[in-house]
Amino acid sequence: MTTDSTDSTPPGIARPTVRTKSRLIVALDGPSSSGKSTVGAEAARRLGYRFCDTGLLYRAVTWLAVDRGVTPDQVAALVPLADEIRLVADARRRLRHVEAAGRDVTAEVREAAVDRAVSDYSKVPELRAALVPRQRGLASEGGIIMAGRDIGTIILPDADLKVYLSASAEERATRRAAQRNLPPDDPETVQILQELRRRDAIDTGRATAPLRRADDAVVIRTDGNTFEQTVAAVTRVIRLAERAKGVASAGR
Ligand code: DC
Repeated sequence: MTTDSTDSTPPGIARPTVRTKSRLIVALDGPSSSGKSTVGAEAARRLGYRFCDTGLLYRAVTWLAVDRGVTPDQVAALVPLADEIRLVADARRRLRHVEAAGRDVTAEVREAAVDRAVSDYSKVPELRAALVPRQRGLASEGGIIMAGRDIGTIILPDADLKVYLSASAEERATRRAAQRNLPPDDPETVQILQELRRRDAIDTGRATAPLRRADDAVVIRTDGNTFEQTVAAVTRVIRLAERAKGVASAGR
């Protein structure tokens, strides 16, 4: 797909392809609570891109499985649940809401019970395989920021730009705690940190599609950043990639 070999494209940005499309396909990966979904959705708003939070797919399947009493090892019952999940677009075509069996479960899938269980369901290779075509289908028309764990490595290995958001577990736990108005030394903050570490270990250690930075990803370290600084950094690399590919920028 590469069109030239004398390329001066900055590192992390895939070289121009023969595809004709007006906007890029951007893979945005990173660990739990690295800010992928909030940062990605805001960058998409500013740039006029669609946005997809693929974590919602795994969360909604988990919610439905727990609701129906299906455990991660009951693969034959688990995989068809994926067909009952639907991502719902907002007015800006951002897929930030999810329905399970026809019911909006966006709030439910963020609850602690789903947080605890989701990594174990996400490990199941057959479930992951069932979700691959849906994610690729969403990205195929371009103009999308897709957030997840394996977007740059497995789902969209030919993405125009791959961004990996990284932050220490301590920083991520502190941010989560702050959202709940908890001080850093609160026992609940310590618990949040332990839970994040446990999920990191499962997400990075699983056999199928583990969380891993793609070799050609731009890494944005967010420790000490404000939300605005991280959004600005992500927006900047997307604009750079657009310029490198001759795509006209939109948005502000
Ligand atoms: O991004 P998140 O915390 O909402 O993701 C929830 C879980 O889903 C996370 O534990 C790992 C899994 N996940 C995944 O395995 N692959 C993705 N592309 C997105 C999420």
